Amino acid sequence: MPAMQITLTRPDDWHLHLRDGAALATVAPFTAERFGRAIIMPNLNPPVTAVDEAEAYRGRILQALPDNSDFEPLMTLYLTDRTSADEIARAAEAPHVHAVKLYPAGATTNSESGVTDIARAMPALEKMAELDLPLLVHGEVTRAEIDMFDREQVFIEEVLAPLLERLPALRVVFEHITTAAAVDFVRASSHRIGATITPQHLLYNRNALFSGGLRPHMFCLPVLKRERHRAALVEAATSGNPRFFLGTDSAPHPRHAKESDCGCAGIFSAHCAIELYAEVFEQAGALERLEGFASHFGADFYGLPRNQGTITLRREPWQPPATLPMGEDTLVPLRAGETVAWRLPREARAL
Ligand code: DOR
Ligand code: ZN
Repeated sequence: MPAMQITLTRPDDWHLHLRDGAALATVAPFTAERFGRAIIMPNLNPPVTAVDEAEAYRGRILQALPDNSDFEPLMTLYLTDRTSADEIARAAEAPHVHAVKLYPAGATTNSESGVTDIARAMPALEKMAELDLPLLVHGEVTRAEIDMFDREQVFIEEVLAPLLERLPALRVVFEHITTAAAVDFVRASSHRIGATITPQHLLYNRNALFSGGLRPHMFCLPVLKRERHRAALVEAATSGNPRFFLGTDSAPHPRHAKESDCGCAGIFSAHCAIELYAEVFEQAGALERLEGFASHFGADFYGLPRNQGTITLRREPWQPPATLPMGEDTLVPLRAGETVAWRLPREARAL
């Protein structure tokens, strides 16, 4: 008989986009209902490049949360060609800054100020290795001649492997991995390398981008890959290997920016994120391993205590709404109008 209910240590989301202003107010409560903490991505416009900016952003996030929420945003800095070793030293001392994010320039949303050549970021990276401040990487090369579906693998070969060789003490999270190559690389690397995996890369392959027509709401970066890669990610996530842990990459964009001539990358999943991971683990016959992936391994990797509380999910199919209001805009959530198999109890949720 299938499980009808599961209770987990409250999970954390180790990769999240909350945005600012009206979007922040719309999306933050969904994450706070489910997760105890989240690593907050710094790709605002302008980006969060300094400790005082991260502190100010944290204040705006706390303001956007419901009054009774004890959700904790874990802040990050955005690495640029000009990030100084001094700023890294300040970040390592700052109580609320937990990591620094590398966006290769041009790789994704608001990455224009990102790193143009890893050699330029070396003073900052050396300081991070020295002070054990984790580097979070968007692992894709951006050269136009590299095939969109190969960008992660080429990044491993050209950037990540040489970087780890040069700075073996650097703690790295390979974010939102999408390929068997990335899984193999993390498995074979030292214990200082972890990886996050999103719900969309566990549930969908690239056919989802084209099912019956072009599906802009299934477009994210790194882009969905072929089935063999999805299967390798599921195997990694459900294996119990503590170097793979939960990071949703929930990334809201207004509907008009997605359904556009040049649509933005990003899938919003915060309204049903832990529920979707439960689907993945259930389908893999590994529900008993969900708690490690969702609630233990990320905290252990970051050297933070595991959460104290719990959440309960029930096996109760429901349909997310077609759209959610987001300020003057609307947001199309993942699984809009379709079914999600698991649900938070009524008293714990807004939808
Ligand atoms: O799909 C994505 N959306 N990938 C990213 O790397 C960034 C994110 C965003 O900020 O919208
Ligand atoms: Zn992201």
